[in-house]
Amino acid sequence: MRQKLVAGNWKMHGSLQSNRILLGRVRDELDGWQGAEVSVCVPAPYLAQAQSMLSGSSIAWGAQNVSKHASGAYTGEVSASMLLDFDCRHVLIGHSERRALYGESDHAAAAKFAAAVAAGLVPVLCVGETLHEREAGVTEAVIARQIDAVLDKAGIAAFGRAVVAYEPVWAIGTGRTATPEQAQAVHAFIRNRLRERDALVAENQVILYGGSVKATNAAELFSQPDIDGGLVGGASLVAEEFIAICRAARP
Ligand code: PGA
Repeated sequence: MRQKLVAGNWKMHGSLQSNRILLGRVRDELDGWQGAEVSVCVPAPYLAQAQSMLSGSSIAWGAQNVSKHASGAYTGEVSASMLLDFDCRHVLIGHSERRALYGESDHAAAAKFAAAVAAGLVPVLCVGETLHEREAGVTEAVIARQIDAVLDKAGIAAFGRAVVAYEPVWAIGTGRTATPEQAQAVHAFIRNRLRERDALVAENQVILYGGSVKATNAAELFSQPDIDGGLVGGASLVAEEFIAICRAARP
């Protein structure tokens, strides 16, 4: 039985003051919630705050990016061991904003994924097609390419210690959610792709849906057989919304 996961992706939002209120509400309402694992991926400067506010609770936290390097002359980069110093559990890898705005390639995402797994972090590998790609009928080819790059670099066993997030780019921050059927179809495709390498890993693989998840659509999305929770952007910044989305995830 796969445990569901709801992870917040705060992106570049927050302040010490607003985080204190948001994290406090999330902790007060969701500490001990049995329905799903809950995690918040915060901007790197706020990892210490997440650590101090969430330590000892059932809520995990993580980062939104990591270097493929262990240390060295890489100005502006943050290593996996630094994230571990703040007790991070998760790290987002290959989010579409990083791919589109910072030129992160499949190859780069694969290297970061491998570095995260090697360090003992749980990478959340984000994959997804653009609207143009969906309309051109190449959704599965794009997802396969993104997944295969990581499989080839890190191996199927590494997926056993990772999470995959399907995030159609056209649904991110647009208010336009994939229908549960559209999302389920791609989730099943991803699981089958992994099954070709290892049936057990595929069966246990947690695959999140991301893209305009809200309190009003979460339960229907999460009830699909291959959707194991959500990666939540905008709605994770609103305590009541995020709490309701987490409560919509149950075994
Ligand atoms: P959204 O973002 O929920 O605001 O669409 C999801 C994401 O980018 O992870």
